[in-house]
Amino acid sequence: MTLVEDTYLEGHFDAVIEANDRIEPRDWMPEKYRATLVRQIAQHAHSEIIGMQPEGNWITRAPSLRRKAILLAKVQDEAGHGLYLYSACETLGVSRSELTELLLAGKQKYSSIFNYPTLSYADVGTIGWLVDGAAICNQVPLCRTSFGPYGRAMIRICKEESFHQRQGFELLSTMMRGTDEQRAMVQESVDRFWWPALMMFGPPDDDSPNTAQSMAWGIKRDTNDDLRQKFVDMTVPQAEALGVTLPDPQLVWNEQRGHYDFGSPDWAEFKAVVKGEGPCNTQRLAHRQRAHDEGAWVREAATAYAEKGVRA
Ligand SMILES: [Fe+2]
Ligand SMILES: [Fe+2]
Repeated sequence: MTLVEDTYLEGHFDAVIEANDRIEPRDWMPEKYRATLVRQIAQHAHSEIIGMQPEGNWITRAPSLRRKAILLAKVQDEAGHGLYLYSACETLGVSRSELTELLLAGKQKYSSIFNYPTLSYADVGTIGWLVDGAAICNQVPLCRTSFGPYGRAMIRICKEESFHQRQGFELLSTMMRGTDEQRAMVQESVDRFWWPALMMFGPPDDDSPNTAQSMAWGIKRDTNDDLRQKFVDMTVPQAEALGVTLPDPQLVWNEQRGHYDFGSPDWAEFKAVVKGEGPCNTQRLAHRQRAHDEGAWVREAATAYAEKGVRA
């Protein structure tokens, strides 16, 4: 490519970003923009797939047929989200099998939240309420992200995530109207998940080196701290409606700011979990590896069938 063509293409890219328009797969894009998107979309896709494990843990032990059907459908939705996102990532020139290999080799990450265990059925509700709730805060702005296939995948995903959040809230509110033991189960579960849910927005802004560039490119629309604040403001009234206590003594309404003040998550714990030292990191990857190995015959059969179709 000549220097003139190069400058023209870069000018076009900048103008599209400036106009808040979409970049599409065939458009020229800076290599770093592409690499940032691959990293972010892959991490998001892996989170959807690994995120099936903590809740999948309870499918065989759901307390009723109704709860089992709801949980099965929810976990299946997450598989679908993973597939939309792998497809969006493939438009950037990386195949799903390459991404899976990078995940299994520990070279790409998934959300730290899924490295925590699910110890009771209340966790199914808490994950829907808090984890899907935090995911919605993160993902709604991504519907306007600058890369077309990612933004369009997010529109569909967000509709399902808000349904997930409501099913979690409904499960918890049913338990809160039950026995003292059930209420205690909900409170214990919320106590365990509150801080890890706040960590889902990533490190504080002053410790998030990629944020500025991602915002300039329109990949990210809000900073980590702004999204965390939005989540807290949205969740406190819901906790009050449920009758659960959020485990943060510093949580208080700040009239001047028009927002809730809240304490700081344990960032040392966050870093350790991201590094692979969380309670379930090894188990999650081992399970994913096993599922991948056991699914080899399905991939082989699908490939053979597709080839047969082409020949016929
Ligand atoms: Fe999802
Ligand atoms: Fe979800």
